[in-house]
Amino acid sequence: MSRIPLLLMLLMAGNTWAQSLEPAPAANSHARSLAATCFTCHGTDGRSVGGVPPSLAGQNRDYLLKQLQEFRDGKRPATIMHQHAKGYTDEQLKLIADYFAAVLPGQAAAAPKVK
Ligand code: HEC
Repeated sequence: MSRIPLLLMLLMAGNTWAQSLEPAPAANSHARSLAATCFTCHGTDGRSVGGVPPSLAGQNRDYLLKQLQEFRDGKRPATIMHQHAKGYTDEQLKLIADYFAAVLPGQAAAAPKVK
């Protein structure tokens, strides 16, 4: 049997799966990779559970950028954000701010059930 049909089926299945996911906002995958480090606390794509810490999805881009620069530079008091904003260039913070500003605010991803 030829392997091509199987390969095609796999490709088609992968494609269907990809289409069932929400489309990524108008940002490149590099920006999403940078932003993904924030998802643990701020929720997937910046939609946080219960708003703590604040959701980043759909926030004003300039506001986000300013907060990130102030955390990084130690100008805005924080418990933890100083650590998370450190080490990024202005260019990277812009990509991150662009990314979250482009995400539509919405429901946080459901937390997994635990035993
Ligand atoms: C370990 C958890 C954690 C991670 C990871 C994290 N944050 Fe935060 N973030 C917080 C907390 C907590 C606050 C509230 C300020 C504080 O106490 O540090 C906050 C506040 C913020 C704010 C201010 C929100 C507002 O409405 O004023 C922004 C912007 C922000 N974070 C962006 C980011 C970005 C971008 C990343 C990824 C590079 C990130 N955070 C990663 C926990 C986190």
